[in-house]
Amino acid sequence: MHVSPPELIPKSPVLGSLFLHRNATDAYPSLLDAPQQQSHRRGSLALAMVLRHLHLNPEDEILLPAYHCTAMVLPVISCQLTPVFYRIQSNTQVDLEDLEQRLTSHSKVLIAPHFFGFHQAAARLRAFCDAHRLIYLEDCAHAFFGYCDEQPIGFHGDYAIGSNWKFFPINEGGCLVSHRHPLDYPTQSASPVTELKAFVNTLEYSLQYQRLRSLRGIFSWAMRLRNRTQPVQSSSLASVPPEGWEPVATDPGFQVNEVNHRGTRWASWVTQQSSQTMIVTKRRQNYLILLRASQQWPGCRPLHPDLPEGVVPHVFPLIMDNPRQYFARLKFSGVPIIRFGEFLWEGMDPLTCPISADYSRRIFQFPCHQELSSRELQWMITTISHILHDNPATPAPFGIYP
Ligand SMILES: Cc1ncc(COP(=O)(O)O)c(C=O)c1O
Repeated sequence: MHVSPPELIPKSPVLGSLFLHRNATDAYPSLLDAPQQQSHRRGSLALAMVLRHLHLNPEDEILLPAYHCTAMVLPVISCQLTPVFYRIQSNTQVDLEDLEQRLTSHSKVLIAPHFFGFHQAAARLRAFCDAHRLIYLEDCAHAFFGYCDEQPIGFHGDYAIGSNWKFFPINEGGCLVSHRHPLDYPTQSASPVTELKAFVNTLEYSLQYQRLRSLRGIFSWAMRLRNRTQPVQSSSLASVPPEGWEPVATDPGFQVNEVNHRGTRWASWVTQQSSQTMIVTKRRQNYLILLRASQQWPGCRPLHPDLPEGVVPHVFPLIMDNPRQYFARLKFSGVPIIRFGEFLWEGMDPLTCPISADYSRRIFQFPCHQELSSRELQWMITTISHILHDNPATPAPFGIYP
């Protein structure tokens, strides 16, 4: 049986202190600035929605980065289109020379993500797409907030997709936006049961990490209801990885029958009510704290040693010299690690892009989201440092479980 180590601090935002702090002057450039908006349950579903409505044929080619997660490829496959993978550079910018060589008369769409929240040269990509008659799909799954080339994120693409759940305290939520084209694709609204589950899941995640404690009693009925429909996976803290433990791919959450499902009203409400300036400020602060701490860590280096203006990071990506030596130990100490691109699309030639193959293996991402408390952040830093310094003692667990 596969053992999943527990995450002792939250990997993604939890409903807590920053929620409902928004006031009239509270705004930062974001996907919400686009005049055309459609809510979805996930970014991948928004991607499939737009691909479905572009009137493409199966031989039409969708240009995707060789550094990707399966949630980016599944929408292309589900629309029976042909993925063509292109190279990235070591700073995760699209390799335009390589991209140009891969163009054929069937090339129709360029999907380019702002990896980890760090922007592509979006105005250049816009010009490239105009010159080659491509539709530019700006993948903002890692960049809900930010600005580049003097415009809000999502401005340069014909369409942009976002992954609200990575930036707001909700368990699911995505969006499709556009500054250039109308969006009136038919969607169906979430059922009352889906709404209730979305609400209860958010609450449960927050309570698991000791937020909203005063509400625990009030919502115990909702937790019981949810547990009846969807049993909670429990796992105990094992500080030593079992012999031969290997990570397994997680469910990318892409359900083709949900492509036309609108996001829940709960997710939209939380997105609207959350304080944008606090999210942005805290994420940038946490990133810089991790950046400073990482200078003392042996055997690794940050992918982005600077945090440019206008970047609101999704995570803190760290390039490991020897990932296999530390991955299991970090995981089993309870540190949440996100591994974007850990499992690349099997249909892609592994030699397509040596940088992507290398990053898939060597980049670990640590959370820097706005709801990490300073205690949680410090514990994570201490634990990572302890393990990377090859300290043989078991690191102290974060004391949140009774
Ligand atoms: C770059 C990128 N694009 C798109 C997606 C799909 O987003 P979602 O998880 O909201 O379906 C992901 C998922 O993590 C992603 O990393």
